[in-house]
Amino acid sequence: MTTTDTEKSLRLAAWAQNTAPSPMQDMLALTARPGLISFGLGLPNQELFPREAFAEASSSVLLNKPHTLQYGPAGVMHTLKASIAELMKGRGVSCTEEEIFLTTGAQQAINMLARLLLEPGGQVVTEEITYPGFLQVLEPFAPELLTVPTCPQTGMDVDAVEALLQAGKRPAFIYSITDGHNPLGSSMSREKREKLARLAREYGVPVVEDDPYGFLSYADVSLPPLKALESEWVFYAGSFSKILAPGVRIGWLIVPAALTQKLSVVKESYDINTANWSQHSVAHYMESGKLTGHLELLRREYSARRDTMLQAIASYFPAETRAEKPSNGMFLWAELPEWVDVPQLLRDAVEQKKVAFFPGQAFDTPGNTKGKHGMRLNFSNATHEQIETGIKGIGELIEAQRAALGQS
Ligand SMILES: Cc1ncc(COP(=O)(O)O)c(C=O)c1O
Repeated sequence: MTTTDTEKSLRLAAWAQNTAPSPMQDMLALTARPGLISFGLGLPNQELFPREAFAEASSSVLLNKPHTLQYGPAGVMHTLKASIAELMKGRGVSCTEEEIFLTTGAQQAINMLARLLLEPGGQVVTEEITYPGFLQVLEPFAPELLTVPTCPQTGMDVDAVEALLQAGKRPAFIYSITDGHNPLGSSMSREKREKLARLAREYGVPVVEDDPYGFLSYADVSLPPLKALESEWVFYAGSFSKILAPGVRIGWLIVPAALTQKLSVVKESYDINTANWSQHSVAHYMESGKLTGHLELLRREYSARRDTMLQAIASYFPAETRAEKPSNGMFLWAELPEWVDVPQLLRDAVEQKKVAFFPGQAFDTPGNTKGKHGMRLNFSNATHEQIETGIKGIGELIEAQRAALGQS
């Protein structure tokens, strides 16, 4: 029996029959190989998790608040929401607790919004190169994707969004990773932010701003998220995954208060409530005031690793390589010369050099091939030595491809 026959006999829904395991899962299996240097996944650095402070917070909660091992209400926990409101103030977003809804990570947050906003077969605006986890969210809706170009320096082509709206398109929402884009590492320019916020307001089309990386800013002056520029039509998704630890599985939405009741219905259907103990532990950690110092540490460590990687790319990759310096996040996008066979490079890198990265094509929206010559490199989860060794190894393999092709 072929897989397809098996799937049909399981009577899967049409979208599930057509779905394939995500490249992220394949990468997870690959990077589990011992001794492999991985620039593949978007993992925060485990060595930097604030384990002592979090152990203190979580064990105190466990010992003193037994009810946190109970079920709880969906999406609400007063003290955590108060801390998030305070945190967002630092990014120029003023919001009330009624506008905050707690989720199991940003992934669930964008999933819940899609469920509320998108009709089956509806339209969504997304960049040509985007986060595959978002495309997975969309799959059951079989939407029409209205894709717009994107730029590794300044982000989404907002003029192209305007052209779609002017042509009469009214998508359910526009998806934006405004800062530290996954996979491009780009952060949207100020002009584009202002214009996108204005378009959302003028046309009454919501922007879903997916922002796990906004707090990991390495620039002297960081730009405000879209949510700070437009409070009504931007629905913001934040996360503790990259600034504390993904294992806590806590994220949040900031939406108009009128939407939170609907969100609680969706949330209940997904997982009843976000793990209560985890929420209380994060709240306790936040109340200790230690996140500010921890963020400073992350910014220092990650920006130093980013610089090491850029330096290594300049030393070991072909001169024609284009690699932008990201001002936020964990990813660096390198655009390789067209003669490089990127999937083959990955196979050779894993087998011969014990290094992994993510080939750009994994981030193409269906029908697009813009990522073909790109590679996403994660710089947060490797040591400086590993970055030097890994990039050098990949560079040597690119040179071997050049020699085999007779390129000069
Ligand atoms: C753009 C983007 N959105 C959402 C997520 C999921 O985040 P969380 O762990 O908060 O669910 C990720 C994780 O890598 C991401 O890169």
